[in-house]
Amino acid sequence: MTQTSPWWHHGTIYQVYPRSFKDSNADGVGDLIGITHKLDYLQWLGVDALWLSPFYPSPMADFGYDVSNYVDVDPIFGTLADFDILIKEAHSRNLKVVVDYVPNHTSDEHPWFQIARANRTNDKRDWYIWRDPAPDGGPPNNWVALFGGPAWQLDQQTGQYYLHLFDVKQPDLNWRNLAVREAMYDVLRFWLDRGVDGFRMDVLWMLIKDDQFRDNVMNPDWKPGDPPYLRQFATYTEDQPGMHDIVRDMRTLIDSYDERVFIGELYLPLHILVQYYGEALDEAHLPFNFQLVTLPDWNAATIRKVVDEYEYALPEGAWPNWVLGNHDRPRLATRVGRAQSRAAQMLLLTLRGTPTCYYGDELGMQDSFVPPALMHDPQGKDNPEYSRDPIRTPMQWDSSPYAGFSSPDVTPWLPVAADYQVYNVVAEQNDPHSFLTLIHRLLELRRASPALTIGSYRSLDQDNTACFVYQREQDGVRYLVVLNITSQEQAVKLPGSGHGRIVLSTHLDREGNVDLAEVHLRGDEGYVIAL
Ligand code: NOJ
Repeated sequence: MTQTSPWWHHGTIYQVYPRSFKDSNADGVGDLIGITHKLDYLQWLGVDALWLSPFYPSPMADFGYDVSNYVDVDPIFGTLADFDILIKEAHSRNLKVVVDYVPNHTSDEHPWFQIARANRTNDKRDWYIWRDPAPDGGPPNNWVALFGGPAWQLDQQTGQYYLHLFDVKQPDLNWRNLAVREAMYDVLRFWLDRGVDGFRMDVLWMLIKDDQFRDNVMNPDWKPGDPPYLRQFATYTEDQPGMHDIVRDMRTLIDSYDERVFIGELYLPLHILVQYYGEALDEAHLPFNFQLVTLPDWNAATIRKVVDEYEYALPEGAWPNWVLGNHDRPRLATRVGRAQSRAAQMLLLTLRGTPTCYYGDELGMQDSFVPPALMHDPQGKDNPEYSRDPIRTPMQWDSSPYAGFSSPDVTPWLPVAADYQVYNVVAEQNDPHSFLTLIHRLLELRRASPALTIGSYRSLDQDNTACFVYQREQDGVRYLVVLNITSQEQAVKLPGSGHGRIVLSTHLDREGNVDLAEVHLRGDEGYVIAL
């Protein structure tokens, strides 16, 4: 593999949601020691880096995205010593560790906020965003929280409202205050000094808000029952002037350490998203590209359009990345169906750019049924349909009680999926045609083939609109990827292209020579073909 490109150009990132990965101390919640115990699995799987969702001290109003201390580990997840062991053990297996960084808001139980809310004159007051009530005593403007309801909460004691773009227990920090920036940059240094290999930065595009606090434009198409975060356009709460200066500062800091990656969570339209690489490629290394997560129609034409437009929009020298799932969005195998998700994973792992995989997606896990009475997620408080709990159920390790996530006598914090006896690591490792075997083989092929990692990408014209075909090439080595995006049989005709050799198929039952004049695919089938 290339020695000249940074590790995140050819590496694959695997997202671990610590609460749900592996419970080592029988309390029903996953922890850092549990993750360390499963590093051999991740090494076997063939990924290169783990991204850990937050494990910092937190009242867990938003399951760790409400941080009450940025430089420690919540006891439910372990200790800093456990973290150090995790890093050491990961590095000894050539696995990188990327941690989540939550700069937009703290918990209301963070000491900074506790001081800030005590009175109007203390030195932390301006670390958060406070406004006087509107003349009628109501909130200062019309901003709504992404979890529903107004984004302002009246603090009775001091008579002002504070801003929370998410839960009421997640007050937004005031990034216009330079002391806040310094304190939050110290947090980055703390984890960099501890050896982390980079950060995934939470809601990076929201740090700066309109300095005049103007009303957002309401979404006229929103109706009750639609997701709360679509209720209004974020005209004055997202991607505001001044954002890029902060992102550049963060990058400068991160670059002062060796080979650390800066990943930004940015749900933005393509032309704005790519600006977060920076004019001089001096901002995020990987502004997360969620286009395949948010795609309204999973069909070949739309997928090709999205991939080609993204490739075209990338600034010169910028490195692409692709995501198919995370802890906020319905699982891939639920969105596109289990059969089609094999083709989707082949897409993710053969496109040009860094792939990010969500834990359990490699097993074909789907969203699980979580009875409303067992739900925890604040996003589902007004409407269980938008709860993210079904996406966060325990990892399925084996067919023992609770799927081997916690000990047999301890109920996990969320129910285990009903079909875990079929879809689990042990069962799938022993099945040469399983979903997991496919992902393992795809990662193996990808790691062995510079053409599939750093190689060029070109989509191919052909007549079958149900299929997406593209070529990857590096140093004269060429692969053709042919994907059937439907459940019906298809034929792809590439006259004059000669023969190729199928090196991997989604159904794991076909290899060898193929005449490219007419390539036949079963429903949901895909091939990687060496040319
Ligand atoms: C984005 C995170 O991915 C999500 O889980 C969280 O609820 C919000 N940011 C607020 O931190």
